[in-house]
Amino acid sequence: MVKICCLGAGYVGGPTMAVIALKCPDVEVVVVDISAARIDAWNSDALPIYEPGLADVVRRCRGRNLFFSSDVERHVGEADIVFVSVNTPTKARGLGAGKAADLTYWESAARMIAAVATSDKVVVEKSTVPVKTAEAIEKILDHNGRDGVGFQILSNPEFLAEGTAIRDLLAPDRVLIGGRETAAGRAAVQALKDVYARWVPEERILTTNLWSAELSKLAANAFLAQRISSVNAMSALCEATGADVAEVAYAVGKDSRIGAKFLNASVGFGGSCFQKDILNLVYICECNGLPEVANYWKQVIKINDYQKSRFVNRVVSSMFNTVAGKKIAVLGFAFKKDTGDTRETPAIDVCKGLIGDKAKVSIYDPQVTEDQVQRDLAMSRFDWDHPVHLQPMSPTAIKQVSVAWDAYEAARDAHGVCILTEWDEFRSLDYARIYGGMQKPAFVFDGRNVVDAEKLREIGFIVYSIGKPL
Ligand code: NAD
Ligand code: UGA
Repeated sequence: MVKICCLGAGYVGGPTMAVIALKCPDVEVVVVDISAARIDAWNSDALPIYEPGLADVVRRCRGRNLFFSSDVERHVGEADIVFVSVNTPTKARGLGAGKAADLTYWESAARMIAAVATSDKVVVEKSTVPVKTAEAIEKILDHNGRDGVGFQILSNPEFLAEGTAIRDLLAPDRVLIGGRETAAGRAAVQALKDVYARWVPEERILTTNLWSAELSKLAANAFLAQRISSVNAMSALCEATGADVAEVAYAVGKDSRIGAKFLNASVGFGGSCFQKDILNLVYICECNGLPEVANYWKQVIKINDYQKSRFVNRVVSSMFNTVAGKKIAVLGFAFKKDTGDTRETPAIDVCKGLIGDKAKVSIYDPQVTEDQVQRDLAMSRFDWDHPVHLQPMSPTAIKQVSVAWDAYEAARDAHGVCILTEWDEFRSLDYARIYGGMQKPAFVFDGRNVVDAEKLREIGFIVYSIGKPL
């Protein structure tokens, strides 16, 4: 029986291993983490992450061939295949700060694997890492491993999106496996291919060299984010000209060479990866003496920052150039619907912008707790995934933020409503009721284009929708 161990019980490690366990009942899958609290949560009924369909998969496999454990060394020691799915955030300090990937967690995982391995291992890079990381990992393993113990490194980047992770894992567009082009490398690729082949059609399992696999992950995220920045850039021009960004995106996306997906204009993209991975790509380009290429990708981030600040400016300028002392309801704090994840959510920048202009913000999100909101708003850029000492929010800022238990409560007495996450429930709220409880004139700023602006105008709202005629 093959044994798989995964280091990192996060948004990727947890769901990915649960699906492998579901599809390979004869394989023992153990997910380990240095955070005992996270492992306890995986072993409870309140899983540490919210992801549609995940609880059901975990319920079916946990205790059968899927286990969550804090006994990292034992399970790594026993495994044939070790996935490493630890966090690889943007460096917050030192060389490359604000751009380069911080590989501290990865390096310590690799050193631990080398220290405890008493049999040959296939070590799989599941985390998103800079191209050529496998070379560094190989060095660490080979220099620190015991005599006679061999390691093969594979790159097997993950392409799941949060909110649809289980669907993506069950029916991936492709699985990508990169390995060394040696007999041992090819055997390791085959061993991992055999795992995925249990449910993924053969033609969807792509094999490449290590560097292509590592770089393809960064490239895929850069291409996806670039589409959003492109449509968001168009949204500004639409507002200036009277074109409607939804109509433009539809017309453009009908070209089969372009395609319809990922062309929804928004308040900006968020999430733990797009920005981090593009910054990482920019840094790699700079290190390789390619400043023009670096600058090209940098623009994707610049437009995203522009879109967020443009939104804040629109709110303030529409409300007679001042939001000081005004209550503004923020509907949605997660970076997208169907997740409780707030990492790099555009809501953080928008709320900070409004607070900076002295507004009082009242936030409602169906999956985000008050603690999480307070933590996020107290954090500096890039610090969220580093063990830093948090600066508490200033007493004035604390007074400016409240968290509501529903959208109606958030909007009561507010001057404006900002929709920042496209939760389905925001489409069907009783907006006449919301209007009735608000200060007048009552504004809606739809950062996700989820409401029917004409209907809201009939109720009496002044409505701003991204990229739509005013
Ligand atoms: P996460 O922060 O949710 O999970 C990482 C986990 O690794 C944490 O629980 C942490 O405690 C644990 N960890 C850190 N060092 C460890 C060690 N030495 N041993 C054991 N556990 C350790 O991160 P995530 O969102 O799951 O992302 C993980 C990687 O996958 C990142 O490189 C990310 O870029 C990539 N990725 C993420 C997504 C996504 O949707 N979140 C999708 C594709 C790829
Ligand atoms: C993204 C990629 O889609 C995954 O393939 C990849 O594996 C993952 O990053 C990763 O490497 O972490 P994720 O960030 O979970 O997945 O979610 P997306 O659906 O890509 O959304 C990212 C952000 O873009 C969200 O804030 C979303 O609201 C925004 N977005 C998305 C738009 O503004 N417009 C769109 O048309 C699509």
